[in-house]
Amino acid sequence: MTTHYEVRGSVALITLSNPPVNGLGHATRLSLTDNLQKANADAAVKSIVITGAGKAFSGGADIKEFGTPKALSEPNLHSVIRVVENSSKPVVAAIHSVCMGGGLELALACHYRIAAPGCSVALPEVKLGLLPGAGGTQRLPRALGVEPALNMIVSGEPVKSELLAQIPGQKLFDKLAQSPESLAEEALAFAQAIADARPLPLVRDLPCKHPNGDAYFQFSRNMVKGMSKNFPAPLKCVDAVEAATRKKFEDGLLFEREIFINLMWTPESRALRHVFMSERAASKIPDVPSDTPKRDIKSIAVIGAGTMGGGISMNFLNAGIPVKMLEMKQEALERGIATIRKNYEAQVKKGKLKLDKYEQRMSLLSTTLSYEDLKDADMVIEAVFEEMGVKEKVFKELDRVMKPGAILASNTSTLDLNQIANFTKRPQDVIGTHFFSPANIMKLLEVVRGEKTAKDVLATVMALGKKIKKTAVVSGVCDGFIGNRMIEQYGRQGGFLLDEGCTPEQVDKAIEKFGFAMGPFRMGDLAGNDIGWAIRKRRAIEQPGMKYSKTADLLCEKGRFGQKTGAGWYDYVAGKRDAIPNAEVVQMIEEHRKALGITPRKISDEEIVQRLVYSLVNEAAHILEEGIASKASDIDMVYIMGYGFPVYRGGPMLYADQVGLFNVLQSMKRFAQNPLDDAAFWKPAPLLAKLVAEGKTFN
Ligand code: 3HC
Ligand code: NAI
Repeated sequence: MTTHYEVRGSVALITLSNPPVNGLGHATRLSLTDNLQKANADAAVKSIVITGAGKAFSGGADIKEFGTPKALSEPNLHSVIRVVENSSKPVVAAIHSVCMGGGLELALACHYRIAAPGCSVALPEVKLGLLPGAGGTQRLPRALGVEPALNMIVSGEPVKSELLAQIPGQKLFDKLAQSPESLAEEALAFAQAIADARPLPLVRDLPCKHPNGDAYFQFSRNMVKGMSKNFPAPLKCVDAVEAATRKKFEDGLLFEREIFINLMWTPESRALRHVFMSERAASKIPDVPSDTPKRDIKSIAVIGAGTMGGGISMNFLNAGIPVKMLEMKQEALERGIATIRKNYEAQVKKGKLKLDKYEQRMSLLSTTLSYEDLKDADMVIEAVFEEMGVKEKVFKELDRVMKPGAILASNTSTLDLNQIANFTKRPQDVIGTHFFSPANIMKLLEVVRGEKTAKDVLATVMALGKKIKKTAVVSGVCDGFIGNRMIEQYGRQGGFLLDEGCTPEQVDKAIEKFGFAMGPFRMGDLAGNDIGWAIRKRRAIEQPGMKYSKTADLLCEKGRFGQKTGAGWYDYVAGKRDAIPNAEVVQMIEEHRKALGITPRKISDEEIVQRLVYSLVNEAAHILEEGIASKASDIDMVYIMGYGFPVYRGGPMLYADQVGLFNVLQSMKRFAQNPLDDAAFWKPAPLLAKLVAEGKTFN
């Protein structure tokens, strides 16, 4: 049963019991209406309390049902709400922990609401590319006031119940319970006390006006428009709340419903829902069940206090986990600490971090020059130079000193993790934790599973990833793992585009218009063009036949490594990140083109975008087929969280699915005919060809 029914004295207590968050799926809606009718039919029942079991009152409509016939099956949420509002006996919502989306809309339909302190209250539909579709845009402004309600609806952000209860004149909560523990008893007592109250109050009957409606909604639209480029839902939220102030309640509901249905079919909403589910799916590993025991990680050691070591350490300090950093020299430790301090102080200055929190975090950080001091750490993360010889020395030392059962992780971005693991006598304890720079900011963490990595080590690191607020995605061992292996092909294609007639600026602008945070050339300048140069030199030995544009090598030969040298594909002014096109670089590309005997042609933005995105997609299909990624949605997460792929397009795999894999393949065949491109580059991955033949999609 997805709701539980019991009668306590004269009160019927209906408890939503649909773990994990009491989502209002079809079975729950059905069971809830049945029980409401049962309570109304029972003469011994004078009032009704609705609450939720476990960790939520309700997280809202069941997102997994969206797009399926169940979502529309009666009773839908509107019908449930009607049953609540029409109940002849008072219905009290007893709200705790999480009350979101359809859960809050259900509560708003109840005659009374009592909330526990500390409860997260939200209408987060906008984050799924929607607006509240069961009366939230019409009832919340009536219960809370137009401005606070619009803020909640447009941002989707949760607000604590005790803060909402302080809003002057609010009618959202009739009572704040003393504590979450006493909520049930207080709600039952409240329900008993108001059992005979008539008429029954309804939020829909409250007035909804704004004293300066025209000016306020105009102002809101201007604000929201600026902040929500590419996302249609936020502006629609403003429309719906404005309708609450201007239309009759029932008309407002219809207006909201129509917008909700239209938004549900937008590619943006589909993408955002995909991202929500994919983010959660990433932690599910096919052969590592969720009840796999985890090791206790109470302290961390970090080897190397450079760019990555410092950022990695901050993640754990932020989560309250002590960190000990090891370096070869005291000066390097001091430099590392100074950088961490500088980062935190900048946050304090901006008001993003309280001074006492900053001090508390720094007090968790200690340093050493001796491996012996690390022996008690539960996990160690190595972030030293990217050279196998250096890694070998470090891992042999770690194997010697670390206590049995400690997890030994490497932040390597290109080296063979299996080889690193085999430097130790405990390869089962070795794993890759590939953080992205800046490691304290970037959400993505690629967790690299070696061939001998133990399941409990993997489960522990995935859980730790969640604790430090990363999106952790598992990758198998291969050159570049998921993200960098794909970006290499994207970069190669960017080079072919230059050879054929584009400027770096044209390529960057086209893909940025598509929605990428940064085009390939601006990204190269940020990461350092010398990194790609080193990879190409290695490739020339390992895979001599692989075709590359020579332009990037020519750029590096001029010492234009990117932002760090003040010059790369673009010029940079010290202290600023603006990319300024450089005429000499354009001339260098033109001369190279001439030397190759190529007559430049005008390449459309559409072709640029297709060539860049499909180069990601084809490599991703290889990665999936080889089992380096276990599901397509993991690849989408890597690209959205780590590489600036537009979230409203759902990642390269969902995007390809939406374009249609058949169309993707046709375009690739066309590109392969271009003599200035590379036919071998566009050879379709067998998985892609197979999916097209079977009429299937990646996701
Ligand atoms: N429907 C179905 N499943 C849901 C869900 C929902 N609304 N909300 C969360 N879940 C599931 C997650 O998929 C996850 O499942 P898993 O264990 O199988 O991976 C599980 O609940 C736990 O989720 P989290 O890992 O996110 O757990 P947290 O404790 O960190 O957070 C939460 C809980 C705050 C409820 C968070 O999950 C959340 O923000 N959920 C989304 C809430 C939301 O967007 N609600 C609006 C839905 S749309 C709607 O109501 C339409 C209406 O207006 C008509
Ligand atoms: P870095 O050069 O900034 O820092 C490396 C630090 O390690 C230096 O402070 C150095 O003194 C120290 N070190 C070197 N050998 C050591 C040893 N034997 N014992 C103790 N300390 C030693 O390098 P960065 O950029 O921090 O990279 C570290 C690792 O992270 C590399 O494996 C790199 O491939 C990886 N990585 C780097 C990313 C980046 O964007 N910089 C992104 C993801 C991974």
